[in-house]
This record gives sequence, structure tokens and C-alpha cells, in this order.
Amino acid sequence: ITKKERPSVIWLHHQECTGCTESLLRSEHPTLDKLILDIISLDYHETVFAAAGHQAEAARKAAMAKNKGKYLLVVEGAIPMKDGGIYCKIGGQTSFELTKECAADAAAVVAIGSCASWGGMPSTPPNPTGSTGVAEALGRKDIVTIPGCPPNPYNFLATVVHFLTFGKLPALDDKGRPTFAYGRLIHDNCERRAHFDAGRFALEFGDPGHKKGYCLYKLGCKGPETYANCPSILFNDVGTGSWPVGTGHPCIGCTEKHIGFEKPIHALA
Ligand code: SF4
Ligand code: SF4
Ligand code: F3S
Repeated sequence: ITKKERPSVIWLHHQECTGCTESLLRSEHPTLDKLILDIISLDYHETVFAAAGHQAEAARKAAMAKNKGKYLLVVEGAIPMKDGGIYCKIGGQTSFELTKECAADAAAVVAIGSCASWGGMPSTPPNPTGSTGVAEALGRKDIVTIPGCPPNPYNFLATVVHFLTFGKLPALDDKGRPTFAYGRLIHDNCERRAHFDAGRFALEFGDPGHKKGYCLYKLGCKGPETYANCPSILFNDVGTGSWPVGTGHPCIGCTEKHIGFEKPIHALA
């Protein structure tokens, strides 16, 4: 891909904490600067944009018009649907209106993070703003989801690179998740699995079993029902990073709807 051919990416933020972008900022292969200067043309992104206000909105509209049918739309954050969607507005438009407008002529739509995938944290009961994910808000079944809170940046980058290389999206499961990343249970690749099989469990944070690295199932670990590649790909950098269970915290199932935010660990006792 030459610089001239860098594909346009429009990135929207809605109800979110920007943790997905923060996670991507820490990627190493490629780094974000290489990604946005050499591989893609990031034409709209509220966190890393130099422009603001009308100038930023004009850049988005210009990029969409120039790359009609060819740009990639990435959505970070949930979309509030209650009361006409008034609980999140950008440039005078509701999140729903803006997403609908940008998705209409996109080559593909990627929902990054659990918020954009199905509502995530903002949709936690009682969900006062009627938050939901991109696919449900738009009523579309062809949205790619990269859930996680935050998601692993390499799962997002690999999806984008696959799209740029082959001109099509990778294989997806019935929740829109790329199967290369979400095809196996955390529990199947966990370094504590031998302890689970042998019946050795940590019973309290800081107890002797916890200090010895025993299985965290009895502390609420959701690894046996959570599909993601966290134990094999790790966070912060491949090979040198870590992941929740690796640091001694149970998996909360952040990549799974109806696990991570509806059955929080503190509610287990
Ligand atoms: Fe933040 Fe998690 Fe939502 Fe990403 S998915 S924006 S990290 S709350
Ligand atoms: Fe399974 Fe969690 Fe125990 Fe790992 S810590 S073996 S994922 S239950
Ligand atoms: Fe989320 Fe569990 Fe991975 S909490 S980051 S799916 S280990």
C-alpha cells in the first residue's frame, strides 16, 4: 500500500471512557503513529484530532464524500436510544443520527469495545439512557464487533489489516466477533488451568492459594464461559505483557454480553 492509497478511516466516539483508544495507543506492532501515518488515513477521530469544532466535522464530511463506499467506519462507545437519543450528541447530532449517516456509505463498520458491541458499561442495568450497541441501534447484522473492556488492540489491528489485505472481513461468529480472536474459551488457554483440574483454588485475595497462583474460579473467574484470546495474545505488548488472570484477578467476562457487566464479581457473594 502506498501512502497515496491509504484507506480512509472515520472513527466515532459515543458513550464511552476512551479506554479502547487508550489501549490502541499502547500497541507496538504497528505503533499508532505508523498506523495512522503509513497504513491508514485517519480522517476523523476526536481523541487524536488536531482539528476541533466545525473544522473537524467538515473534515469528516469531506472524507466521506471523497471515499464514498470505500472508507472504514470504526465506532467506539454505546449509542443511547432513549428519549430520541439526546443523551449523547456530537456536532449537534445524536450518536444514533451520526452513526447512521456515517455507516450508510462505509465499506465496513467495526464496533470496537464492549460499549459499541452491545452497550457494555453504559448499558449496565437499569440502563437509564437506553444504551445499546451499533448493530442493534442500526438494525444491521453485518457489523464487526471487537468486544473487550478494553479490547486487545491486536485483535482490532489484525481485523483492519485483514480487510486492507484481502478486501474482505475475517470470518465472524454469530455475535460478529472475528473467530481468529474469539474462537476459544479463556479457560482452555489459561496458565492456571492445571490448578483448576487438580482442584487447587484461591479462596480469598491474598490467601496462600492466591499467592501460589492457584485457579481463580472460586473468586468468580468467568474464564470457563468467556471466549477470547487474552491468555495467548496478552496486553501491552505481545510476549512481554500480561492479562487479568495473569496479574491475579479473575476474568470478569468482559468480551461476553450478559456476563461482564450484568453479573459483576462483587455481586457473587
Ligand atoms: Fe471504555 Fe470499556 Fe467502553 Fe472501551 S469498551 S470505551 S474501555 S468502557
Ligand atoms: Fe479457568 Fe479462570 Fe481458573 Fe484460569 S483462573 S483455569 S480461566 S477458572
Ligand atoms: Fe476481559 Fe477476561 Fe480477557 S475480563 S480482558 S475477557 S481475561
